[in-house]
Amino acid sequence: MPGAIVMGQMNIEMDNAVRLTIKGRPEMARNARAFARANLSRLGCSPSAIDDGELIISELVTNAIKAAPGQEIKISIFPLRKYVVMCVYDPGDGLPRQRQAGSHDESGRGIPIVKQCARRYGAFEVVGGKIVWAMVGRQT
Ligand SMILES: Nc1ncnc2c1ncn2[C@@H]1O[C@H](COP(=O)(O)OP(=O)(O)OP(=O)(O)O)[C@@H](O)[C@H]1O
Ligand SMILES: [Mg+2]
Repeated sequence: MPGAIVMGQMNIEMDNAVRLTIKGRPEMARNARAFARANLSRLGCSPSAIDDGELIISELVTNAIKAAPGQEIKISIFPLRKYVVMCVYDPGDGLPRQRQAGSHDESGRGIPIVKQCARRYGAFEVVGGKIVWAMVGRQT
């Protein structure tokens, strides 16, 4: 699905979004994980898709907190027909970039994990920050 179509679809479906704003502090990641789990479950994700979604949110929110410490990070979750979209906005500079993580590296693992666990993944700049998004499957 090309990005433009994803965005067009998102624009309509975002009316159904649930949203959570957290402060960019490391201890807030668990709130984001609980929020994701509850909503992925409500929206008909399988147990393994819920686990994938929790891991994805954990990585994306951790990255957002590093990019925008102390600032407001906004999470939104909404359903498409076959997927649930999770978006994480932060007001920091830059975009995710995949690093060449060697087997002994202790960082640079987040984005590869997200790519592995997500059905689709992307990022784009917005005025005042960026949104990193990922989709997991949904049973309807
Ligand atoms: N929300 C973001 N805003 C700005 N830059 C980001 C964001 N997310 C990721 N990046 C950039 O992409 C790089 C790769 O992210 P990734 O999550 O793979 O690794 P990491 O966060 O450095 O380490 P790890 O996730 O293994 O702790 C980051 O080091 C950072 O430079
Ligand atoms: Mg990371």
